[in-house]
Formats: sequence, structure tokens, C-alpha cells
Amino acid sequence: MNNAGLATKSVKTAPELMGVRGLFYFAKDPLAAFTHAARTHGDVVGFARTGRSYILLSHPDDIEAVLHYRGDELRKDFFTRSLGAIFGEGLLNAEGAHWKHQRKLMAPTFQPRELSGFATSMVACTDELCASFAEGDLRDVHADAMHLALDIVVRTLFGSTFKRFDDVERALGGISDEYRQLWQTWRALVPTWVPLPNHARLRRRRAELDAILFELIQSKRAAPSDDLLSHLIALTDDEGRGMSDEQLRDESMTLFLAGHETTALGITYMFRLLAEHPEAYARVVAEVDAVLGDRPPTRADVERLPFANAVVREALRLYPPVWASARQATADVVLSGVPIPKNAHVIFSQWVVQRDARWFREPERFRPERWLGDECANLPRFAYFPFGGGPRVCIGQHFALLELVLVLSRTSQKVMFEPSGEPLTLGPVVTLRPTGPVRLRVTRRSRPEAPRAAAE
Ligand code: HEM
Repeated sequence: MNNAGLATKSVKTAPELMGVRGLFYFAKDPLAAFTHAARTHGDVVGFARTGRSYILLSHPDDIEAVLHYRGDELRKDFFTRSLGAIFGEGLLNAEGAHWKHQRKLMAPTFQPRELSGFATSMVACTDELCASFAEGDLRDVHADAMHLALDIVVRTLFGSTFKRFDDVERALGGISDEYRQLWQTWRALVPTWVPLPNHARLRRRRAELDAILFELIQSKRAAPSDDLLSHLIALTDDEGRGMSDEQLRDESMTLFLAGHETTALGITYMFRLLAEHPEAYARVVAEVDAVLGDRPPTRADVERLPFANAVVREALRLYPPVWASARQATADVVLSGVPIPKNAHVIFSQWVVQRDARWFREPERFRPERWLGDECANLPRFAYFPFGGGPRVCIGQHFALLELVLVLSRTSQKVMFEPSGEPLTLGPVVTLRPTGPVRLRVTRRSRPEAPRAAAE
């Protein structure tokens, strides 16, 4: 798709995003900055700062051309590559032949039909969380969702007998804090080769997690069980070779980090949106009651819950956990008529495109029903892409969608959330994080329940 034959599109400059002033303007509110740039200057917007040049693409066809491009001239962006310090060479930032080999090896493990066993853990973890909710509690659903999503990823990856959850949670929290400090404060202006105390702390946190992971890899090699890590250990390529301990470490660390915070954000915004839209919430509850009654949901139930699925899709449209992605050109290339010079970054934002009135009626409104009829049937493919697309589409998308629908349906059998009246403020870096707690009030469902000890 290096379609040099197409008429070349012009790149409009966004003066407000240029230079150090542009950097501060962007840092203050990246969502508004990109949305304003795209709505004001068009679908192909250029800007430069701190020695790097960027092109923001906001037309689905241009984004498709980039994400489906298979040539070597595009690689992952500078920021994702920097995550290699933690991920190693896991799927998210591997490139070329190594990425292709690992993706082919791991893809079958994440097919929907392979996920049934994980559904049981997802529901069990949700039950534990629900058991901690009391009538009238004001809960930070973001903190709850982070804990839940980590619990789910740890249990599916390492099995339900894994004992060091607290150590993992602490180390991951530390890594996330260090990254926030490095990218969201004045430290973002310091060249990456300048050593800062944050780098040393990051290395320590990584070493803590490495020790846990290597120990686990050894024990699963000796005694495999029915968890994802044991599956990964058992995989062999066409030549009969399995992964080394280092590769297993890199891939499990990647699945951990790529799969935990993203899904937690999906859960957080889904509950907040429902709390603010009682009619939609009542429809979820009615659907869950009719399809499931009191029994726990399974993977097979997911397709019997069309409205719950629509809620999940709509929450990921309005609050995409990965709000922007990028690629860097390693040589001059023309894609979809857009000239991309060597070293430039192309950026595309799920936040900007998924709220574009050209593709979505009433784009700022939460309307799950838009996904049920024909309204969204003829969308351009990349008008909605919370999981990216093309060969590097999220490998965990079926896992994440399963988790979101199961968490929604299981929770709705037991509790509902009401708004706390507090505003939501977003502070996106890599993911679309809230800046503070996202508090919602718990009401337990009024229909008769079995005594708590027996039910939960
Ligand atoms: C709502 C939850 C999730 C969202 C919104 C999400 C989003 C994404 C996006 C947008 C990408 C592509 C990035 C790019 O093209 O640069 C991606 C890649 C990836 N995601 Fe997810 N993700 C989610 C959940 C998960 C889960 C649960 C896992 C694992 C269990 C996972 C593992 C990965 C991996 C390994 C990649 C890299 C794939 C590759 O390059 O081959 N993600 N994700």
C-alpha cells in the first residue's frame, strides 16, 4: 500500500502544537489539543517539537493505510520503544522477523474458543470484589477495577494458586508511578540519556518482577498447570523450538502490563457511564436477569447479552483506554497519498476519530443502542478502532471483551452504581487515565439474595 501513484495530500501545519510552547499546550490537555488540531486544520496535520516531527492522521482510510502497511519503513514509535526497558522484547514492541515469529506462535492461544477456562477465573475474581461492596459505599471504581483486572490477569497467567499477588501489585504500581513522573512532569524535557533517580528505581522494580517471573517459569516448567504461562511454555514453532526463559519473561511481562491497565480503564468508564445513564443501566440489568437469572455467566453467555456488548463497545468508543497510537518512519514513504518523511512519527487518535460527527451521530453522547441496529453497520473500518488494527491489532482483544462483558454482567447481578456528583478529569499519558479517584455509590440489588457466605 505504498501508493505513490495517488495524488499527494498536503500536510497542514498546526502552529499551536509547534515548539516548546506547543509541548506545554499539548501537555496541559492532549485530548483537546489533538481534537482541536484535527477539527481546525483537517485530517492530515503536521507539527514539530524537541527535534521530532509528527503527522496527526484523523481520516479512517489514512489510518487503515498505516496500520495495514507491512513494509519495513514503519516501526513502533519512540515512546513504545522506550517501554522495552520493562517489556524487553515482548510482542508489543518487538519488530520484524522476531515479532512475526512470536505473534504466529502466540496467536492461537488468544482465539475466542481458547478463552472459556479463563471466563471462570474472571467471574470468580468479580465475585470477590462484589463481596467487598456494602450498601451505600462510596467506592473508587478505578482503584477497584485496577485491582480486579490485575487479579484476573495474574490468575489467568499464573493460575489461582499464585501467592505473591501483593508483591506484583506493588512492583507494577511502582513502575507506573515512575513512568508517570518521567513522562508527565518536567522530566519529559530531559534527554533520555541523562540518568535520573527514576531510572534506577525502575530498574529495581523490574528486577523484583523478574525474580518472581523467573521463579514461576521454573516451577511451571517442572509442573505445568492449566494457566496461560504453562500454555506459553508448551508452545513450539515449526522447527519444534519453544521459548527461552528470557522470551517467556518478556512475553508474560508484556501481557501483564498491556492487559491490565487497559482493561481496568474499560471497566472504570463503563461503570461511570452507566451510573450516569440509569435507563441504559436498567436495560443491562433487565437483560442480565432474563438471560442469566442468578447463575454465573460463562463465555457462551456473552453472545446472548447484546445490550451488555453494546454498552462495552460504546464505553470503548467514548473513553478508549489507548487513546492514541503512533508509528515512526525509518525511510521516506507515501501512504494513502500522505508523504511521511524519514524519522517522522505518524499519530492517530482513537479519542479524536471515535468522537467525529462524520462517522457517529451525536458523537459525544453515550448511546449504546447505536451498535444494535444498522446505524453503525457501514462505518469506515477505522472509524472505530479501540484495539488498533492490521497485523499488530491487540492480541488480547477477545480476552478483554470477554472480561468486560463478564464483569459487567456478573456485577449487575449483585450491585449497581450511582453517580457521586464528582466531575471526571482525565490525565492521559500512554493510556486514558483519570487524574484522581472515580467515585461511585454502591447500591446492592434489591431482589432476594442468598445469604452472603453461601452466595459469595
Ligand atoms: C480494553 C482493553 C484493551 C485495549 C483498549 C487494548 C488496546 C490495544 C491497542 C490499541 C493495541 C495496538 C497498539 C498499536 O498498534 O500500536 C494493543 C496491542 C497489544 N495488546 Fe492490547 N488492549 C487491551 C487489552 C489487552 C489484553 C487483555 C492483553 C493481553 C492479555 C493485551 C495485549 C496486547 C499485546 C501483547 C499487544 C501487542 C500486539 C502486537 O503488536 O502483536 N491487550 N492493545
